[in-house]
Amino acid sequence: MSDPVSIVLVGIGGYGGTYCHLLLNDKQSRGKIVGVVDPFAEKAQFFSELKKRKIPFYDTLAEFYTQHTADLAILSTPISLHSRQTCEALEHGSHVLCEKPLCAHPAEAAAMLAAQRKSGLLVAIGYQWSFCSAIQSLKADILDGRLGRPVQFKTLVLWPRTDTYYARNNWAGAMKNADGDWVYDSPANNACAHYLHNMLYLAGSSPEKSVLPVRMQAELYRANPISNYDTAAFRITTQDGPEILFYTTHASSRTLGPIFKYTFEEATVEFSGRGGDIVATFANGQQKNYGNPDQDGVEEKLWGTIRAIRGDGSILCGIEASMKQTLCIYAATLSCPAIRSFPCDLVYKAGVPGNQVRVMTGLAELLEKAYLESTLPAEISNAFWLNPGKSVPVPMTSVIRQ
Ligand SMILES: NC(=O)c1ccc[n+]([C@@H]2O[C@H](COP(=O)([O-])OP(=O)(O)OC[C@H]3O[C@@H](n4cnc5c(N)ncnc54)[C@H](O)[C@@H]3O)[C@@H](O)[C@H]2O)c1
Repeated sequence: MSDPVSIVLVGIGGYGGTYCHLLLNDKQSRGKIVGVVDPFAEKAQFFSELKKRKIPFYDTLAEFYTQHTADLAILSTPISLHSRQTCEALEHGSHVLCEKPLCAHPAEAAAMLAAQRKSGLLVAIGYQWSFCSAIQSLKADILDGRLGRPVQFKTLVLWPRTDTYYARNNWAGAMKNADGDWVYDSPANNACAHYLHNMLYLAGSSPEKSVLPVRMQAELYRANPISNYDTAAFRITTQDGPEILFYTTHASSRTLGPIFKYTFEEATVEFSGRGGDIVATFANGQQKNYGNPDQDGVEEKLWGTIRAIRGDGSILCGIEASMKQTLCIYAATLSCPAIRSFPCDLVYKAGVPGNQVRVMTGLAELLEKAYLESTLPAEISNAFWLNPGKSVPVPMTSVIRQ
C-alpha cells in the first residue's frame, strides 16, 4: 500500500467538515492530515477530534508553510480566498483541491491557471457531479457521439434559503466582502453553481474540458437584503455547443430540482430531481439509465485527486473546466448590471421567526414556466418588476483560449 498523501486542510467549518469526516474515518488511510489552517477553527464540528489527534493549527497558510510541507492543500474557504490560497499552496509545492466555485472574478481564474502552469502541479475543483460515475459515463457517450449533436441544455433549481443561511457568515449574498474583495455570492455561484457548471462541463470537447460561453443574456433579482442577487435566469450561447438556459432562486417557498432536460439531435437526457437517476431517451425509443449523480462524487473528488497525485488517473475537473462558470457569472453582471429588488409588497416571509425564507409571490411559477418554454422570464410575462438584461459577449474568452 502507498504512503498516505500529506494534507493541509484550509477551512474546516461549513463544508470543510465533509473532508474532515472522510479523512478521519478512512479505513484505507489514503490521506494524513498534517495541519489545519482556519482562524476560526474552534467553531468547527471536528475541532476537538482534530485537536485530540495532535494536529497543529494555524491562522494562515504562510504560518503553516514556515514549519511544514504538504502534498495536498484542500481549500474549503470563502470564495474570495480561493484564488490567492490556491496560488500560495502551489508556490509551496502542494497540489490543490479547491472547493467550487473556482473563484469570484475571471482575473483571479487567470491567475490560478498561470500559477498552476508554472508549478506543474495538479488542481482539482470540487464540483462533485464532475467526479461522479453517472456524469462521467454520460460525458463519455456524448463524446462518442452516441447522442448526436447537443442542441439545448436547460436546468431549473428552486432552493429556498432562510435568513439563517444568509447570516451564517459575512459574505453570503455579497457582491464584495467587507475588505472590498470580489465574492459574487449567489445561487448561481454557490449552492446551485454545480448545475450551471454541469451543463458547461458536459458540452466540453474532451473529458477534462468545458464548452466556452460566448454570449450571455441574464435577468438578476433579489428578495433578500443582500448586495448581490438571489434569483437568476441565464441564456448562454456557447462556441459550437448547445444553447444553455439556467433558472435558479433562493426566494421561493417550495423546493424543486435540480431538474434538467438536455436535448441532443438523437436523444434527450432528463433528470427529475435529487434522489433520481439521469435517463437518456434515444430517437428509437430506447432508454439508458446513467444512475444517480449524487451517489459517489463527494468521495470521488477527494479519492480521485489523491489517486491522481500518486500518478493513477487524471483530474476530471480542474481550473480550465471550472473557469467557464466563472466567466458566465461575470458576464451576467455585464448583461444585467442593475440587480432588481423585488417589490417589497410582493415579498413575504415564510417559516418560523429566526429561520424564515423571503418568498417572491409567483416567482416559482414564472421560473417554471420559463423553463418549460425555454424562454427568459421577461419574455413571457409583462409584470412591471421584470428586469431584462442585454445579450452581451462574454469577456476574457481570450484568456481561456490560450
Ligand atoms: N461542494 C459542495 O457541495 C459545497 C457545499 C457547500 C459549500 N461549498 C463551498 O465550500 C466553500 C466554503 O463554503 P462554506 O459555506 O463552508 O463557508 P463558511 O463561511 O461556512 O466556512 C468557511 C470556513 O473557512 C474558514 N475561513 C475563513 N477565513 C479563512 C482563512 N483566511 N483561512 C482559512 N480558513 C478560513 C472559516 O472559519 C470557516 O471555517 C465555498 O467555496 C462553498 O461554495 C461546497
